[in-house]
This record gives sequence, structure tokens and C-alpha cells, in this order.
Amino acid sequence: MDRDPLSATPSDRFISVRTVTKQFGQFTAVDRVSLDIGKGELFALLGSSGCGKTTLLRMLAGFEEPTSGQIFIDGEDMAGIAPYHRPVNMMFQSYALFPHMTVEKNIGYGLKHERMTKSERDDRVAAMLDLVQLKAFARRHPHQLSGGQRQRVALARALAKQPKLLLLDEPLGALDKKLREQTQFEIANIQYETGITFVVVTHDQEEAMTLASRIAIMDSGSIRQLDTPKNVYEFPSSRFVASFIGSVNLFDAELVRQDDQFAHIAVPEIGVTLQALRRGQLHGKTRLTCAFRPEKVHMSRQPPASAVNTMQGVVQDFGYFGKDSLYRVKMPAGSLIRVNATNDLRAGDDDIVATWEDEVYLAIDPAAIMLFEDEA
Ligand SMILES: Nc1ncnc2c1ncn2[C@@H]1O[C@H](COP(=O)(O)OP(=O)(O)OP(=O)(O)O)[C@@H](O)[C@H]1O
Ligand SMILES: [Mg+2]
Repeated sequence: MDRDPLSATPSDRFISVRTVTKQFGQFTAVDRVSLDIGKGELFALLGSSGCGKTTLLRMLAGFEEPTSGQIFIDGEDMAGIAPYHRPVNMMFQSYALFPHMTVEKNIGYGLKHERMTKSERDDRVAAMLDLVQLKAFARRHPHQLSGGQRQRVALARALAKQPKLLLLDEPLGALDKKLREQTQFEIANIQYETGITFVVVTHDQEEAMTLASRIAIMDSGSIRQLDTPKNVYEFPSSRFVASFIGSVNLFDAELVRQDDQFAHIAVPEIGVTLQALRRGQLHGKTRLTCAFRPEKVHMSRQPPASAVNTMQGVVQDFGYFGKDSLYRVKMPAGSLIRVNATNDLRAGDDDIVATWEDEVYLAIDPAAIMLFEDEA
């Protein structure tokens, strides 16, 4: 695969969704969605419950027909093409293994109707067991497996037919946090090894960030942003995306003036004027939202060297998370700013960044301030 996995657009369109809408009666579940997915890509659909993720996946698989719009897979218009004639397999949100069948029977189940000899089928099942590292478990039944192992059997079963496209609907929903993390890496590895195009649905943003080369963020049936994990985090296109992905400080702001480099904004809730590096043109609105992530705020007890974007406040409280701490710093105007500070000093040193009631300086790089013209 020579495509740069972090590039924003795929060079070869394997899936092309063209202004697809799906209505159930009066209700619009998917609203004019357009997107392209490249061959061999691991693509994530991310959004809160009910935003239309499963519906979009089911249309790719052929279990639902779009009300309007078109879907192309591998250059072919999918209109009217039945699920079993598409080069697609889907692992459902609530996948079920057959409880009375062994692991290997489960994996081989979908191959029965393929034109394959028994030994070809056995070879394929063995290769799948290898891939998901469950060779030693081939003869067990599902109830003799852990949750993560069952998940891997379901994945092997979905991969056994060697689809060109695998759709995974919340594949890790049933797993606890630690196992989820581990299985995320396994899924990414399996995707890489097989080169099959994966579309993964999740409502867990960390999971989408870890797994995917690109993410589509959905809300009420529409795509709000489609980009690499890094770009949706660093350069969200709207206030909605900024607050959906990760943690963020959000304040109403007013545009005072712009020069070549910076937008100067008044932020009454903090009681300061800040300067933000301009990225593209603001469209003339004076009421803006300013946003910055807690880890982009530098906190110190001494005045920082530069006076640009510095503020003074008092530590109201903080939570200790081991590798870092989250501080809430109260501004004279009354609002709270969340600040993430890395704990790179060992406890016992008297040099912790700050503690309760400490007066501190906060400084934000103008490049770290995001400005949005959209309302909440
Ligand atoms: N067959 C149907 N008939 C009527 N409404 C439906 C149907 N299927 C889905 N919906 C509605 O469409 C919307 C989107 O549903 P969908 O299952 O795609 O959400 P989702 O993003 O997968 O959510 P979740 O994260 O909870 O699985 C929901 O409001 C749902 O109630
Ligand atoms: Mg769903």
C-alpha cells in the first residue's frame, strides 16, 4: 500500500457514497452524506447514539436501500444489488456466535455455500485461526472463551470469506477498557496484514483515534467533519467537533480586529484580550467562540517570559491522574480554565507545578487558540 495513511483524501476511491439520504417515514436517519474511502483504508464512523452510523453501514452492506443518492463499491453502482452479491461482509453490533458449534465450526460457517473443497475450507479456517491467534482454542465452544477471545472468533468468521470490504459495527462494545485497548491494536494489525478495507463504527472517540487512518464525525445523520485523527483534534472545523473530540475550554469571544497574522479577540468571561493565529479568513462575524485544549495552556508560578496571552488566576482545585493532573484555575472574572499539567517530577519533590489556592500564571500560544463562527 503506497498511500500515505495520514493523507486527508484517498488516492483510489474504493467506496464512494454520493449524497445518500435514508428516511424512515418522516424521520431522516442519514442526511445527504457524501464520502470516499480508499482501498485498504481503516476508516471510522464516529458519533453519538442514534446519529445514523449503523444505518449508513447497513446501506453499504445492502440491508437497506438509500432513499436517495448512490453508493459505489469498487467502481460498481450498488443500487438493487443484494447483500450476498456485494464484496462485503458485516460484523454486527450484537454479533452472535453459534453456541453449539466449536470455534472452528463458527469460523467456517459462512464458507459452506462457497464453491470450495473441504480441504480448501479447512485451510482457510486454519489461516483465520492463525490470524486471530486462536489455534489452541479451535475445538472449544464459545462459552469456554473469554469476551475478547469470542470477539476475535467473530472477527475471524467475518474475515473468512475474504471480503474486499469489512464493516464492523461497534466491534469492541462488549469488552472492558483494557481488553478493548489490546483488541484495538489487534484489529489494526489484522487490517494491515490482510489489506482489506475496514469501516469501523464506534461512539468511542479514543477508539476511533487509535484505529483509524481517517474519521468521519457524524451528528444527526450528517457528517460534521471528515479528516485524520490528528486534524480533527488539532483543527476541528466547528465548535461542535472541538467539544465532541477530547476536552476543551470554550468561551464566547468578540472579534476586536485582525491583522495579517493574528485575530485579536476580547473574552469577557476571562477578562482578557487574546491573540489567535489566523488560519484562513474569518467571515466577518464579530461574535465568535474561542477554544483551547487544557494541555495547550502553560501554567507557572513565575511570570512567563512573554506577556502574550498571559492571564493570572488562582488554583481552585485539581485532580491527580498519575501521569498528569487536571487543574481548574479561577479567573478574576469568575470563570474556570482547565489546565493539564504533566507530572514529570517524582512525588516528594517540592517542585510540583501548583497546589490549592496558589496564584498562577497561564499562557497560551496564539497558534493553540481555535476560533469558530458557528453557534453551539
Ligand atoms: N428501521 C427503522 N425504522 C425507523 N427508525 C429507524 C430504523 N432504524 C433506525 N432508525 C432510527 O434512525 C436513527 C439512527 O439509527 P442508527 O441505528 O443508525 O444509530 P446509531 O448511530 O447506530 O446509534 P447507536 O450508537 O445507538 O448504535 C435512530 O434515531 C433510530 O431510531
Ligand atoms: Mg448503531
